Amino acid sequence: MNRQISPAVHTMGYHGQNGGLFMAGDFVITGGHPLEGRVQIPAAKNSVLPLLAATLLCSGRVVLQGVPELSDVDQSMALLCAVGCRAQRQGRELVVEGQPRSCVLAAGPAAQMRASILFCAPLLARLGRAETVLPGGCDIGARPIDLHRKGLEKMGVHSFFAGDRLVLTAPGGLHGAQITLDFPSVGATETLLLAAALAQGETVLRGAAREPEIADLAAFLNRCGAVVQGAGSSTVRVQGRRLLTGCRYTPVADRIAAATFACACAAAGGRVELAGCAPALYAPVLEILEQMGCRVQRGQDAAEVSRYGKLWGAGKVFTGAYPGLATDAAPLLAAVMVCAQSGSSVEDVIFERRFGCAEGFAAMGARVRVRGRQFSAQPGGVLRGTEVTAPDLRGGAALVVAALAAKGKTRVSRTGCIHRGYAEFDRELASLGAQIEREIR
Ligand code: UD1
Repeated sequence: MNRQISPAVHTMGYHGQNGGLFMAGDFVITGGHPLEGRVQIPAAKNSVLPLLAATLLCSGRVVLQGVPELSDVDQSMALLCAVGCRAQRQGRELVVEGQPRSCVLAAGPAAQMRASILFCAPLLARLGRAETVLPGGCDIGARPIDLHRKGLEKMGVHSFFAGDRLVLTAPGGLHGAQITLDFPSVGATETLLLAAALAQGETVLRGAAREPEIADLAAFLNRCGAVVQGAGSSTVRVQGRRLLTGCRYTPVADRIAAATFACACAAAGGRVELAGCAPALYAPVLEILEQMGCRVQRGQDAAEVSRYGKLWGAGKVFTGAYPGLATDAAPLLAAVMVCAQSGSSVEDVIFERRFGCAEGFAAMGARVRVRGRQFSAQPGGVLRGTEVTAPDLRGGAALVVAALAAKGKTRVSRTGCIHRGYAEFDRELASLGAQIEREIR
């Protein structure tokens, strides 16, 4: 069935009071059941969102394949529809066509997610102007957009605030520039790639983020006729083009979803095959799980994680920009750490408030502490089911992972934020043998 998204439909669908996400219901998990089976890892949310922004640059039809049903994807399609494009879901494919006619991003969806800022550069390239509200997203620390703005300034953009709206204009069009990022921001790298693809002349971006989703965006742009070289390394060169076509494209697999199911298996015990995602994309997570007592078998495009014995602490681990341990995986590893027989700590060097899930772990009986950016877990706590609230996307998933190992029933509320990044999380886990139900109160 085809489904066209409008901002109104989406806003009603997921976001209620208290950031409440009322239709999603609570997850009720009865812990203590090992997992067994196979999960097909879908396209990465963090790739699909920038690719949807990139469709604004394309004069032809774009089809993205293997895209999971996520609320952030719906929000992004709502942004496209509101500027005049057609964006439809046809089963696992998203079809986007038409040209942007408005430079104003719909405030509802734009305010809900961080990735809305990525839609500005393509609007600047096509219409010379973009207006938006400040992007929202998970409350995991300060999330400024200064690097996006500074880079765009070098390419001919003026930006200013008018009330709560950010207005960006490119009166003389976008031109190529030499830009060095002070920090390898994923979002800023994506913004500048998007701007450079249709800018006049060459852009050289130094200090770029090297995440696989950047290389994926560049591969997509190149398939549409752009000339981007070096994406995935810290120096990216872009020769601006006058026009990009459309294409049919399968985005890279979701390494964070794969890491999540790997952590779920580590916490619950059992054996899970993670199919369709190269293990190299989340190598640090798999290595840490091995250190903690899991067995990992790696194929080219799949991994099998199993744990039948005890879990040991991981010692001290740190996140980092890719190829380091992904910040998004840190709460999920923390959930495994609270199940271990010896101590561990994980420090997130990217965001200041990554471990909003610690409160939920503590309510479940874990002995945990958050000091600054560091989360630590001590042995001796016994996890017992209780009522907890998902603090954010990855923190919410982490509470579900810990609940798989807890004695008795855990109720996780505010699961709408989990739906931002996981399609049918409860059904996937249930298909692996977890006892998890969705209850609408
Ligand atoms: C993206 C991912 C998110 C992931 C993060 C880091 C998407 C939709 N989201 O977020 O899941 O956790 O990368 O891998 O892809 N910063 C600035 N100024 C800026 C931009 C960023 O100071 O203009 C700082 C941020 O405050 C943060 C750090 O840079 O401390 C990393 O942010 P960034 O890499 O930009 O993350 P996002 O693109 O927001």
